[in-house]
Amino acid sequence: MKPKVFLSRRLPPAVMDRLATHADLRVHPEDRVATPAELAAGVRGRDALLCNITDRIDAAVLDAGSPTLRVVANFGVGFNNIDVAAATARRIPVTNTPGVLTDATADLAFALLLATARRLGEGERLVRAGQWTGWEPMQMLGADVTGATLGLVGFGRIGKAMAQRARAFGMRLVYWNRTRLSPSDEASAGAMYLSLAEVLSQADFISLHVAYTPETHHLLNAATLSRMKRTAILINTARGPVVDEAALVQALQAGTIGGAGLDVFEREPQLEPGLFGLNNVVLAPHLGSATIGTRTKMGMIAVDNLLAVAAGQRPPNCVNPQVFA
Ligand code: DGY
Repeated sequence: MKPKVFLSRRLPPAVMDRLATHADLRVHPEDRVATPAELAAGVRGRDALLCNITDRIDAAVLDAGSPTLRVVANFGVGFNNIDVAAATARRIPVTNTPGVLTDATADLAFALLLATARRLGEGERLVRAGQWTGWEPMQMLGADVTGATLGLVGFGRIGKAMAQRARAFGMRLVYWNRTRLSPSDEASAGAMYLSLAEVLSQADFISLHVAYTPETHHLLNAATLSRMKRTAILINTARGPVVDEAALVQALQAGTIGGAGLDVFEREPQLEPGLFGLNNVVLAPHLGSATIGTRTKMGMIAVDNLLAVAAGQRPPNCVNPQVFA
């Protein structure tokens, strides 16, 4: 018997083909974020929910899937869109897609770092507006990347991949992480461990690579932002609410920090209005994992996870393994 799957949003073709072959598939008919009522209706009578990071999966959705729902497979490494405690209380495994989006996300973080340092957004706007009058010795002078210090806040897979890129650009690396690396891992990463306050005050660029949890909510706020150098640039490809966006806008407007490259926002797709008027920010629409190869791999992992549960096995990427205890 094929597992009955509800897919909240269409995925890359190879993933759709695999689902069509191995599952009895119900797909949300419209290619947009499903409402809570649509999620609840979609999951009714299904064995598996394949959802993505814009779907709010709460107790009501889980209950709508009861008693058949046996797994929630998230299309994404972050899973703060899911009430994992509610799933655990119902003994429903929740899975994610780690590993495969590391390089794409680090590439995007580094692209934002370069774009913000070298004022690419501003330059592109000038050229497109037909206002460029020719080369000038003092026009749009940016920040040097080579030789600058990159502060990594969070040093898991994506933080380390960012470090690898930064080393190739001749940057000095400092990091803060909940758990300090072993001396040999630090040596091979070429990164020095500092307190968060020291990272913030020493770095020319800060790149955020922590998961969003209650502990990392507004980790960057008015107080922590004020520790950064006036010239420092903040890069966020992690999760929007890690930064107090209103405080960030204030710091950027006041010039107490130098700039920001942002791929994620506190209330996506809404942005703190002040961001639009700032030339020293580069804004991207949550593109971290957005390559066809990466999104295909993410989809395949999500399918691996749900098929494993359907076959009575432990899914490879379970974020609440206690449900199997
Ligand atoms: C994730 O998987 O958490 C990413 O943010 C999606 O791009």
